[in-house]
Amino acid sequence: MKHTVLVTGASSGIGMELARLFAQQGHNLVLLARGRQALETLAAELQTQHKIAAQVLEADLADPQAPAAIVQELGRRNLHIDVLVNNAGFGLMGPHATLDTQRQLDMVQVNIHALVHLTRLLLPGMLARNTGGVLNVASTAAFQAGPNMAVYYASKAFVLSYTEALHEEVGGTQLHVSCLCPGPTHTGFVSAAGMEGVGLFKLGAQSALDVARVGLAAFERNQTIAIPGLKNKLLTILGKFSPRYATRKIAQALNR
Ligand SMILES: NC(=O)c1ccc[n+]([C@@H]2O[C@H](COP(=O)([O-])OP(=O)(O)OC[C@H]3O[C@@H](n4cnc5c(N)ncnc54)[C@H](OP(=O)(O)O)[C@@H]3O)[C@@H](O)[C@H]2O)c1
Repeated sequence: MKHTVLVTGASSGIGMELARLFAQQGHNLVLLARGRQALETLAAELQTQHKIAAQVLEADLADPQAPAAIVQELGRRNLHIDVLVNNAGFGLMGPHATLDTQRQLDMVQVNIHALVHLTRLLLPGMLARNTGGVLNVASTAAFQAGPNMAVYYASKAFVLSYTEALHEEVGGTQLHVSCLCPGPTHTGFVSAAGMEGVGLFKLGAQSALDVARVGLAAFERNQTIAIPGLKNKLLTILGKFSPRYATRKIAQALNR
């Protein structure tokens, strides 16, 4: 079935690759981010290559009014969103007490509030049409506390818990709800978070395309949680059997 897919954070990285993969499958797209130029270039590429409709929606998800305005704009364009990909997000590295207050609050707004608000506004339509679903992008950071990235790790723990709960709530319908939990991935995330040279990335990182492929495949089979890469899977399993004080100490050592 041909769906209309809204991808947040489609202007780069994992979101851009997810948008490309959905387009390859013939789905129409709404590409959302702040960077209009990158979105327009991507929309043109996808329309030409895959003969789909791709629209651009410029929005700043750090603005608490954005989700309602986005849904209003979708209505104005007469677009029904079947699949919502909540991918937009960012991290900040540094001690909570010294990182900029507003930037950290913006992170909560983008990574949590906007994701919840958009989902809450679009889910009823999906349920009414009984098709589509939600693909949320969390992180392997969701599985333990992350000293030196406290708000980021906590925001991703929220996304994972929220998505798991939604997955169960829509059980018995045709909707799919999945959570993609990438480990270190080569994207703009590292420089945006101030993480250049950090230990975690020295262990190796995946390409955004590989991560997006895992995310789309998981969503297609309605897999609740998808962790791309064997190393990330093993570390997550190891974390499950380790005491919490140990996992947060390891995270602290890697976040340097
Ligand atoms: N890269 C990693 O190692 C990694 C690991 C685990 C999880 N993740 C998660 O993967 C997701 C995608 O990140 P990425 O790695 O692909 O990084 P990225 O290349 O920096 O992409 C982030 C995307 O989010 C958008 N975005 C950021 N702030 C926004 C805002 N205020 N309003 C609207 N859009 C905003 C950016 O677009 P504009 O700047 O154009 O607005 C961009 O399209 C994030 O949720 C991130 O937490 C990444």
